Parts: sequence; structure tokens; C-alpha cells
Amino acid sequence: MQERGEHSMKAMQFEVDGPMTWADATDPVAGVGEVIVEVAAAAVNRADLMQRAGKYPAPAGESDVLGLECSGTIVELGEGVTGWAVGDEVCALLAGGGYAERVAVPATQLLPVPEGVSLAHAAALPEAVCTVWSAIRELPEPDAGELALVHGGSGGIGTMAIQLLRALGWRVAATASARHRGLSAGLGAEIVIDYRSEDFVEIVKAATDGRGAGFVLDVIGADYLDRNLDALALDGVLTVIAVQGGTRAEVDLRRLMQRRVTLRAMTLRARPRTGGRGSKAEVVRQVRERVWPRFAADQLRPVIGATVPLAEAGRAHELMGSPEAPGGKLLLVR
Ligand SMILES: NC(=O)c1ccc[n+]([C@@H]2O[C@H](COP(=O)([O-])OP(=O)(O)OC[C@H]3O[C@@H](n4cnc5c(N)ncnc54)[C@H](OP(=O)(O)O)[C@@H]3O)[C@@H](O)[C@H]2O)c1
Repeated sequence: MQERGEHSMKAMQFEVDGPMTWADATDPVAGVGEVIVEVAAAAVNRADLMQRAGKYPAPAGESDVLGLECSGTIVELGEGVTGWAVGDEVCALLAGGGYAERVAVPATQLLPVPEGVSLAHAAALPEAVCTVWSAIRELPEPDAGELALVHGGSGGIGTMAIQLLRALGWRVAATASARHRGLSAGLGAEIVIDYRSEDFVEIVKAATDGRGAGFVLDVIGADYLDRNLDALALDGVLTVIAVQGGTRAEVDLRRLMQRRVTLRAMTLRARPRTGGRGSKAEVVRQVRERVWPRFAADQLRPVIGATVPLAEAGRAHELMGSPEAPGGKLLLVR
């Protein structure tokens, strides 16, 4: 029998820009307030590809194994954990460690598997739901007929954003590539804009009698800043959550003032575990209370583009980086 802390589990190991291998790793130990989850499935995020390329290291003190979300069964409770029991089926928001047989998780980052969702599919939820919720939780209630524009409406984030904004009463327009039009439309986007061949500003303006979108969720950054401001209605909110199109852009502050723009930007992984409104614990608590019931109400569902065995995660990374990426989330199952 092996002692805890010895090489007694498998996890995905990688070297920067090298291949990934499913190899022996040190079993995690449950710290104070943590549980050990036996992983059933994990999901791929673009951040995993960046971490693998050496551009997005794990935050200090967190596991350097890839994997920002997983689902599975609690097999051990650390000191001071209440409200959870060994045997509970959960999904978890992680700062790392999901591409493994077992992972230590702060109990404050656990969520129950939502009603109507399988244990494996629940792995595709924590990162997308917590990110989207963080980005929209401060929005005012939409006026009747008010439009939100979701960029990347076919991706893991966008497919969840479309559903949640619809559930909150927004009309939704989404950008996506032409081959993913049906995916975004099927989730409730009434307008799907091919970002390669169509002008989203023109289309959003036409759909709102010239007013523009009350909210824009952006994953492109610098390349879209100017056009996002053009697409925004008076008093609109632009929230940037990714910079796939660059980090630096110039902005005319007078234009922001005149249009009464709220410009926000956020990231989830770097948030502290606990400690107030911005913490992961608080985001997860709100998600459980405000978002989770919407799965049972059939307003939300995980969108799984492809499923790959966890030990072959490299194939899923290739797929995510390829022009054939299927849309939705890529799931890694044990
Ligand atoms: N701030 C945070 O805390 C946080 C958390 C999670 C994720 N993110 C970031 O958010 C971004 C989206 O994540 P994801 O999981 O949805 O990634 P994903 O599944 O890989 O999706 C990427 C999306 O971007 C779309 N896209 C690519 N170029 C575009 C363009 N020029 N205009 C509009 N859309 C474009 C793709 O559309 P097609 O596939 O249809 O071409 C796809 O929908 C990533 O950069 C990720 O790192 C940030």
C-alpha cells in the first residue's frame, strides 16, 4: 500500500511546447478546507493550451497540472470541511489539476452536479458558467427587446453566455464562423453574424432601430474595441474577458463619456480563493444560488462539441487549435 504523497496516481505531464504524457504523479493531499475529488471528467480550456506553451503559468501555490474544471466523486474530506460528504458527486472550479485521476479542491469551489446533467458532462460547466456569471452579474435588467452581443458565440464561453443571457431576458446576437451558425442559433441567438464576412456593427444597429446593443461580451480585445464601441447603445456595457485579437488599443475617452459607456474587463483564474465579492468562493456561491436552478428549469445545458479520453488530452488540444474545432466544450473522460 502506498503512502499519501507518493507517486500513486496518474496525471497529464507536459514540458513547454512538448508532448503531453499520462504518467505517474504525486497523489494530492487535502489541505484545510479542501476535499479530494476522484476525477470522472475534465474539460479543455484555451488557457490550458496557453499554459502548455509556457504563456500562462499556474498562480502561485496552485497545482501546475493542467485543468481548470472537472467533475467526479468526493473521496476524502480535509479538516474543517462542512456541507459535503465522501461519495458526493460534484463538479469543481479549479486553478489547476483537473487533468489527473485525483485533485485537491477547496470546498468553496465545489458545486453539486446540476439536475438533469450527467456526471461527465458537469465537468464542462464550472469554468464557463463562473466566467459568464462574473461578466454579467452586475448588468442591469434588460429593457424590453434589449439586445446583447456575444462574440465567439460558438465557443465554450459563448455557448453558455447565449443561454444565460436569454434566460435573463436579453435578445441575443452572436458572432461565430459560418459553420457554427446553427449551433449558436439553436441555443437562442436570434442573430448569428459570420465574423469573417459580415459587419457586426451594421447588423446590430439594424436589429435595434439604430440604438445598438445594451451589452457586448468580448473575447477579441484590441482588434474589436473600436467596433464594439460603435455597436454599443447609450449607457451600454462592454465587458472584455479575452484578448484573442490583441491587448493594446487606443480609446477616445470623450467618446466613452458621451456614450456613457461602462468598460469592464475581468479574469477568473487569478481571483483569490476566498475573501469577499471578487473571490472564487463568492462567484461559486452566487452561481449555485442564481444559475444552477436554471438547469433544472431547462434553460441551460452543457454544450459538448467532442469527447476524448483524458489520457489522450493532446488530441483534444490539437482539435481546439484546428480549423475543425467543433464548437462548445471539449470533454476529457476517464
Ligand atoms: N477572463 C476569463 O476568466 C476567461 C475564462 C475562460 C475563458 N476565457 C477566454 O475566453 C475566450 C473564449 O473561450 P472559449 O472557452 O469560448 O474558447 P473556444 O471554445 O476556443 O472558443 C473561441 C471562440 O472564439 C470565436 N472566434 C475566433 N475568432 C473570432 C473573431 N474574430 N470574432 C468573433 N469570434 C471569434 C470562435 O468562433 P468559431 O469557432 O465559430 O470560429 C469561438 O467561438 C478564450 O480566449 C479564453 O481563453 C477567459
